[in-house]
Amino acid sequence: MREQIVTGTTALYAVLGDPVEHSLSPVFQNEGFRSVGVDAVYVALRVPARVLPEFCRLVRHTSLRGFNATIPLKVPLVEFCDELSPEARLMGAVNTVEIREGRLIGHNTDGRGFVASLREEAGFEPAGKRVVVLGAGGAARGIGWALAEADTRSVIFANRTLRRAEDLAGELAAASEENERYSACALESESLAKALAGADLLIQSTSVGMGDDRAIEVPWDSLPPKALVSDIVYRPERTPLLEEARRRGHPTLGGLGMLVYQGALSFQIWTGRQPDTRRMMEAARKALREHP
Ligand code: ATR
Repeated sequence: MREQIVTGTTALYAVLGDPVEHSLSPVFQNEGFRSVGVDAVYVALRVPARVLPEFCRLVRHTSLRGFNATIPLKVPLVEFCDELSPEARLMGAVNTVEIREGRLIGHNTDGRGFVASLREEAGFEPAGKRVVVLGAGGAARGIGWALAEADTRSVIFANRTLRRAEDLAGELAAASEENERYSACALESESLAKALAGADLLIQSTSVGMGDDRAIEVPWDSLPPKALVSDIVYRPERTPLLEEARRRGHPTLGGLGMLVYQGALSFQIWTGRQPDTRRMMEAARKALREHP
């Protein structure tokens, strides 16, 4: 492979966050650029939340072409974009900014990234399927929206705080004019068992299991044996929930695919090109194994 030479005209992209040092995005986005021969580099840039307003005011006058945002900037960014895509507006969060003629256009590719990883990594077509989502936070919102776009039959949000799940189900139902599709239940054994009976897909969308050995308790016997179990957490690559699902013979899907595919969708917004997602996945997996 030819060594990349950075010149004065090389396009610049970044992921913003605080902290941002552990981000895998530079690894797989640069692999994406190499895969289609785009003259661009992608770096991790630490931007504390308190300087975000000033950053957004100034960056539009620079040659930065676009950026991704991670914790804690996704929600505050909404306020500093000049334009929002419908999904960024509905989610109240921006993970991708396109800088075009001095304007900041905010998008959110998280939910579609999850659905793309379902299709591409797990070979799972969500149309017509019954889904249970553990959690009702920002991640669940994006995934719930994208699942409706993908024409799933039903989505039940199971959350520790029932009210939050009810609110989310109500909001998504209103936005999609699909009252029947969304419902909510409490994250306790009996209600969850009822929700899981007949489910085709279980999605863990909370931060539980990230960097520790905890897992949300799932009444496994109620989940049909063929149901796919997925976790949006990718560090560790195999969370306690996924380990348990595998032991019980369920097909599983880790969170790395969602990360890479949300990035591939950002890449397409910025460049209009389709990167080689297989190469991006390989690069991300290798980096994660080297720095677990
Ligand atoms: P994110 O944007 O990552 O989704 P969030 O909006 O803070 O983050 O939402 C976190 C989600 O994880 C919520 O569904 C939260 O449940 P509550 O609404 O009841 O707070 C869930 N969560 C976090 N810690 C949890 C735990 N220990 N057990 C169960 N659910 C948990």
